[in-house]
Amino acid sequence: MKDEVIDLRNTPLISPQSIRSPKYALRDFAGILVLNGEIVLRTNKLAHDIQNDYESKKLVLVGVLDGSVHFIKDLSEGIGIPIKRTFIKVSSYRDNTTSGEIELHLNPMINLNGMDVLIVEDIVDSGKTLQFIIDEIKQKFNPNTVKTCSLLDKAEKRAPGFENVVADYTGFIIPDEFVVGYGLDFADNYRGYRHIAVLKPEVFSK
Ligand code: PRP
Repeated sequence: MKDEVIDLRNTPLISPQSIRSPKYALRDFAGILVLNGEIVLRTNKLAHDIQNDYESKKLVLVGVLDGSVHFIKDLSEGIGIPIKRTFIKVSSYRDNTTSGEIELHLNPMINLNGMDVLIVEDIVDSGKTLQFIIDEIKQKFNPNTVKTCSLLDKAEKRAPGFENVVADYTGFIIPDEFVVGYGLDFADNYRGYRHIAVLKPEVFSK
């Protein structure tokens, strides 16, 4: 049975001092929102749900670079049926705020024709990227089905017109904070930190 998405919007942060943390974590993080152990537990539950839903299907996980690499590794390890795995890369609309356009930079290296595609994201924020990817994959690659899985959902941040963009499988609903670690970055930093942490505002507003 599928369970409820875990809502972390009122969860107190864990001090980086209370666990073994590198110096940059003590300096730059307001606190830890999700410990690696909790991420792995939740990811295993999602993997179990996916395994049940795709038992007799041709599942291919399509990870969105760069942020999803930690998540897709743990997710695919937990799915106990044969699956394929590939990656795509999209440009960030944040790099191109004037036109607001997103582009596919890297095509999947697996033929998605007739496959059951599960797009794997680290986070849904405005919803624009996920909606773009769903439309693009359906339009260009002729899959059998397209569904979505995101570790994190910043539910309060949907852009107007994107309110209905919700992943089919979601790990955690999180507050509107700048989160890094477990693949998520600020200016390509912090991706290797194993927990998900909240960045201090003075770090990203400098
Ligand atoms: C992040 C994330 C999603 C997107 C979500 O990617 O991985 O793809 O933003 O934001 P949205 O819902 O507002 O569209 P980013 O552009 O930061 O690239 P990265 O994964 O390489 O860090």
